[in-house]
Amino acid sequence: MDFILRECRLPGGELVDIGLEQGVIEAIEPCLETKAAQTIDVGGQLVSPPFVESHIHLDSALTAGQPRWNQSGTLFEGIEIWRDRKQSLTLEDVKERAIATLKLQAQQGVLFVRTHADVSETNLVALKALLQVREAVKDWITVQVVAFPQDGLYGSPGNLELMAEALKLGADAVGGIPHYEMTREDGVQSVHRIFELAQQYDRLIDIHCDEIDDDQSRFLEVVAACAVRSGLGPRVTASHTTAFASYNNAYAFKLMGLLSRSNINFIANPLINITLQGRTDTYPKRRGVTRVKELWQQGLNVSLGHDCIRDPWYSLGTGNMLDVAAMAVHVCQMTGQSEIAACYDMITTNGAKTLAIQDRYGLEVGKPASLIVLDADSPYEAIRRRAAVTHVFSHGKLLVETKPAEVKWA
Ligand code: FE2
Repeated sequence: MDFILRECRLPGGELVDIGLEQGVIEAIEPCLETKAAQTIDVGGQLVSPPFVESHIHLDSALTAGQPRWNQSGTLFEGIEIWRDRKQSLTLEDVKERAIATLKLQAQQGVLFVRTHADVSETNLVALKALLQVREAVKDWITVQVVAFPQDGLYGSPGNLELMAEALKLGADAVGGIPHYEMTREDGVQSVHRIFELAQQYDRLIDIHCDEIDDDQSRFLEVVAACAVRSGLGPRVTASHTTAFASYNNAYAFKLMGLLSRSNINFIANPLINITLQGRTDTYPKRRGVTRVKELWQQGLNVSLGHDCIRDPWYSLGTGNMLDVAAMAVHVCQMTGQSEIAACYDMITTNGAKTLAIQDRYGLEVGKPASLIVLDADSPYEAIRRRAAVTHVFSHGKLLVETKPAEVKWA
């Protein structure tokens, strides 16, 4: 064996030894007798599959304040600022910031990332840069790229051609933003077009869907209906769906039945949803986060993302998925023990399901040896204390080691 990790506490509570050999998990047993080139005594701490960042915009990451700060804190001012900033995008600019962000994520245990790439600019610089980054980092972190039409598929002439070009260049998924199209009809049409493109190019779908407090923004039902009719369900993701939090309960109840039939994935971004939404409210002020708990209770797949790290929409963000899970616990009122455990699943296994990478993900013999060790003995403690990730293994190699902070009373 190359590595043996002794006394690993799995997320389910079992205590095991884990053997890694040639990039693969070779053994998971209560007590491994074999020897290894290197042994790490984990001492009963949590060993988990890596974190999955299922929704981020690496093209805009680390640009907060450029060319100006978002003073209103709204989604729409963010889009305007980004429209100005993206005029000066270069391949090097995007690649440098994307790789810096990926390193920030990886050192905190994230080894799978789905990023959106804005394809609403004529040279497709963001997309081309992120496709190059996907290739450059593939030995240590897996990146999926969504072709995301930030200004709408029908917002400007030529946007549809740009989307097709992005898919030909190799984007992993078709994106969309139906609630931002000029009319409701354009929004509905955009969803149909996205499904056609996904089938034509055999790609996944991840739509920014109903990211608004408008209780009449109802593109989620269109996405779900298209998923039912096309049979693409598990390959489809509805991101944000914040309007779902504002729907009346009679409609929400009816919708939930359709969502169950559709079998699509959901991504909530609680850090940014709680800050961007509710901006037009006085009091009571809505939380603007989709019905995470109810979707989870319904058995639907929900994962969590940062969405942004220091960009025009969100000037904060750390890359730490435990921050995201902790915010979900609070905002979605998921404070029960099984609910906190579910929030941990939402940044690990559920994210892998959203990304459709289950064949390469998980603590199982034969799977790639990508795993993390945390300074905590359970997912609950990891979230409560935002525990440090002490070891990050990627494909059998120790990628990062972090020493938890030491406190000394004088
Ligand atoms: Fe987003």
